[in-house]
Amino acid sequence: MIHFMHVSKTYAAGWKALNDVSFKIGKGEFVFLTGHSGAGKTTILRHIYMDERPDSDRGGQVLVHLNQDMVFDSKNTPDHRVQELRRKIGIVFQDFKLLNDRNVFENIALALRIVGAPTSTIKSKVYEAMALVGMSHRRAAMPYTLSGGEQQRVAIARAMVHNPYILLADEPTGNLDPDNAQEVFHIFKEINARGTAILMATHNPGFYLNNSFRRLVLSQGQLLNREIL
Ligand SMILES: Nc1ncnc2c1ncn2[C@@H]1O[C@H](COP(=O)(O)OP(=O)(O)OP(=O)(O)O)[C@@H](O)[C@H]1O
Ligand SMILES: [Mg+2]
Repeated sequence: MIHFMHVSKTYAAGWKALNDVSFKIGKGEFVFLTGHSGAGKTTILRHIYMDERPDSDRGGQVLVHLNQDMVFDSKNTPDHRVQELRRKIGIVFQDFKLLNDRNVFENIALALRIVGAPTSTIKSKVYEAMALVGMSHRRAAMPYTLSGGEQQRVAIARAMVHNPYILLADEPTGNLDPDNAQEVFHIFKEINARGTAILMATHNPGFYLNNSFRRLVLSQGQLLNREIL
């Protein structure tokens, strides 16, 4: 489903944020992405939703294979098709990124309104997403009145409203206390059990040491646990 082939990414001054990174993530897998600050975790996630592309000269290739008809190749996906890709990938960030001038329902509904979904569809999909994260009772609340854990649950609902094939999470529990972090992680496991692949960047050993999910370990832009592909 996600295939990195010898991916290198050089930012200014010749520093390689990613250096010959190769891995595969299969349909419905749950994979952790770990490594020190600056190791390249966010850079990997940004390559999957094609906010970044590998170096054009010997930078390798990223393939995102969603289904038979939806294969996105970093080498030939034009910018106008990237939106199509992003609608099928959910993304959750450390700092939630909710819109403070819209309530919970509207934050989740926005992605559907943008694509012109009918009102009845929007309502049923938003209610389904709110139920998934246990936030239905707060649908009229403004984000700034919610706790961090609640805000992240709304952000997860927003990421799930298009029924994505893949959920990417960049340190999603980094701003949460241990109880809320556990709860958010529990929701991720629930989402994965329903079939969505998850790639989760995290610094929290409590998650990856206590779960059998595969882990990609990055150090200075390189994968420490290289896989033979
Ligand atoms: N847009 C950019 N321009 C220049 N350098 C960048 C850019 N984005 C990332 N980098 C550099 O690439 C390297 C990898 O950064 P990245 O954000 O992927 O690390 P990370 O593993 O997500 O770290 P953290 O745990 O702190 O979030 C770092 O050295 C960073 O400074
Ligand atoms: Mg990061």
